[in-house]
Order: sequence, then structure tokens, then C-alpha cells
Amino acid sequence: NPDAPRDRHGRPLRDLRLSLVETCNFRCPYCMPADATPDNEVLDRASRLDFDEIETAVRAFARVGVSKLRLTGGEPLLRKNLPELVARLVHVPGIEDIALTTNGSLLAGQARALRDAGLRRLTVSLDALDPALFRQLSGGRGNVDDVLAGIAAAEAAGFSSIKFNCVVQRGVNEAEALRLVGHFRGTGHVVRFIEFMDVGNCNGWRRDKVVPSAELRDQISAQWPLRPLSPTYRGEVATRHAFVDGQGEVGFVSSVSEPFCGDCHRARLSADGQLFTCLFANRGTPLREVIAQGEDALAARLGELWRARGDRYSEQRGEEDRKRRKIEMFYIGG
Ligand code: GTP
Ligand code: 5AD
Ligand code: SF4
Ligand code: SF4
Repeated sequence: NPDAPRDRHGRPLRDLRLSLVETCNFRCPYCMPADATPDNEVLDRASRLDFDEIETAVRAFARVGVSKLRLTGGEPLLRKNLPELVARLVHVPGIEDIALTTNGSLLAGQARALRDAGLRRLTVSLDALDPALFRQLSGGRGNVDDVLAGIAAAEAAGFSSIKFNCVVQRGVNEAEALRLVGHFRGTGHVVRFIEFMDVGNCNGWRRDKVVPSAELRDQISAQWPLRPLSPTYRGEVATRHAFVDGQGEVGFVSSVSEPFCGDCHRARLSADGQLFTCLFANRGTPLREVIAQGEDALAARLGELWRARGDRYSEQRGEEDRKRRKIEMFYIGG
């Protein structure tokens, strides 16, 4: 599409990350620490976009270049009738790929319906296999057995290659990272390690809590030799490495040690319809009123907003940037 807008750094818009609900049944300290976030729903139901509004929005995003959709939250499986929404979005012209990011706790009951609705790709957050550490990392709310049951249900429903996201924190779960590799090697699933990021303002981020991907990669490689793979598509967030013995691959998302803003084709839409052009944005642009005017009006507005975009936070990450107010990650999703 030659009319597709490009931002101030020449980047097209390809990928929309859609948050369906801003709350979560976990309180992972790196994302939504219990002592700093509301206990219940942040938004009342009426302020969330309904399925008609979401579909209109996705149609408009597809017209300005989006072909890839990721459903997130908060925890998206808390959104009622999610399979119904998936079934609608798979038919939107231009959308070639839909994936869902979940903490997996409610997956056992929903995997089949999501698959039947047309969902083909799943990412499950999993920071530890050890039950006590898993519980701690979920803010005291999650059971690793529920997640493992969710994974089994997803496999049974036909999700053959699931991605696992593990946020690694120094002194907290480095040993679990290796355990995850051992557990999922050879299953067809892909574990990806994410550097702890300074998203939002309440997660207590410190640079010395970040384990640089290169270090972790060397540790994994010492046990199971790795070789680099080329990206599956331009701007892929994770760098990929295959096990030399053919037992699959692992990925690394290195937004702190090796920022990837240069190829950032992602926009984010919050559950209440605000557009964020960066994960570290200071504020969003409310779009609900434009959504109400329909697909054409929204596509035009999105083109304007995208052309004005200049974000490249991870490449800058100065002290001043870090201190200013940033949107919380649970509000706009990973
Ligand atoms: P695939 O379609 O499977 O390649 O998905 P993906 O690579 O986009 O992976 P996913 O959406 O699971 O993202 C993995 C993690 O990377 C997220 O949970 C975030 O923590 C981080 N991440 C994703 N996009 C960005 C981004 O634009 N900027 C930064 N700094 N981090 C990001
Ligand atoms: N740093 C890195 N990744 C994070 N996520 C949430 N908060 C952070 C953070 N501070 C990841 C979670 C989840 C995805 C939605 O975002 O692991 O997989
Ligand atoms: Fe919930 Fe995911 Fe944030 Fe954890 S990382 S609190 S599971 S949204
Ligand atoms: Fe994109 Fe912002 Fe992440 Fe850079 S920091 S990759 S611009 S979302």
C-alpha cells in the first residue's frame, strides 16, 4: 500500500497491540506491583471499547498498514466473550496474523474456544517453574500448575508452537531461566527471555537488576550450544538462536542492552481507546470519538498521528527520560 503512512523516522505501521482489559488477576512486581496499583478494575465496563468499536478500529488500522494484531491486557482472558471477538477480527481484510499474550492462568477453560474461533498463535508469560517462586513473581496470586494445565489444554486444542515470555531479573530467576530451557527444549515451543525494562513508574527498575541477554545466552550456550538464526521478518523484536543439536530455538528481547527502535512498527491501543505510539509514552491520544465517526475518519486520523510519530525511547533512555511520567505496562499491554 503506497499510501501507508510513515513516521518521522521513516517507519511504517505494521503491528497493532490491542489491550482488551486494563486489569489482571496477577500482580507481577515488574508490571503491576500490588502496593502501587488498584485492587480491582481500573476502568468501569462502559469505558472499555465494545466489540463493535474494536472491530471498527482494527479495520481502520488495517487500512493504514497493520497486518499483525496482538491481543493483550492486563490479562485478556478476563475479557468476557473473547472468542466472539477473535472470530470477528480474523475476518478483517488485511489482518494476516492474530496472536494473544496471556498469563495462562485461565487458559485451560478457554484454549479450545479460542482455537475454534480462529486463533492460531499464543504467547504465555512464564517466569519460573518452581511453584513458590512462580507464586512470588505473580504477586502471590498465581499457581504454576494452573498455567501448566493451560499449556496442556492449548496443546490439545492444536496450538503446536507456543511462545513463552520470561522476564529475567538478576538475583531472582536466572536459575529458572535455564530450567525453562531444559523443560521446553524439544517440545516445539519457544522460550524467549526479556530484559527487565523500566516501563511505567512503579516497578522499582534498576539497571543492575537487568541481566543482559548476551550473558544469559552464554550461560545457556555452555549447557546447550546455540547458533544465531536470522530474523523471521524485518523488525522482529526477539533475536533467535537455535540449539545446535536440532532441539528447537530460544529468543532474546534485549530492549535495554540492544534497543530496536529503528525498526519499531508497533502501535498500541488501550482498552479505553487511546493510541500510544511507544511503550514508554507519556500519554495517549483518545480515539473513541473518532472511532464513533467510522472507519474512514479513523483511518485518516491514524495517518496523521503516525506521520507525527518520533518515538525511540529505548535508544535514548536518559536519566531525565526515565524519571518523567510513563504509562504503566498493564494499561497498554506488552
Ligand atoms: P511475535 O509476533 O511472536 O514475533 O511477537 P513479538 O516478537 O512481538 O513478541 P511479543 O509480542 O510476545 O513481545 C515480547 C515482549 O517484548 C513484550 O512482552 C515486551 O516485553 C517486549 N516488547 C514488545 N514490543 C516492544 C517494543 O516495541 N518496545 C519494547 N521496548 N519492548 C517491546
Ligand atoms: N520488563 C519486561 N517485560 C515486561 N513485561 C511486563 N512488564 C515487564 C517489564 N517491566 C512482559 C511480561 C509479559 C508481557 C505482556 O510483558 O512478561 O510477558
Ligand atoms: Fe498481569 Fe502480565 Fe502484568 Fe503479570 S505481566 S501483572 S500477568 S499483565
Ligand atoms: Fe518502539 Fe518505543 Fe519500544 Fe522503541 S521503546 S521499540 S519506539 S515501543
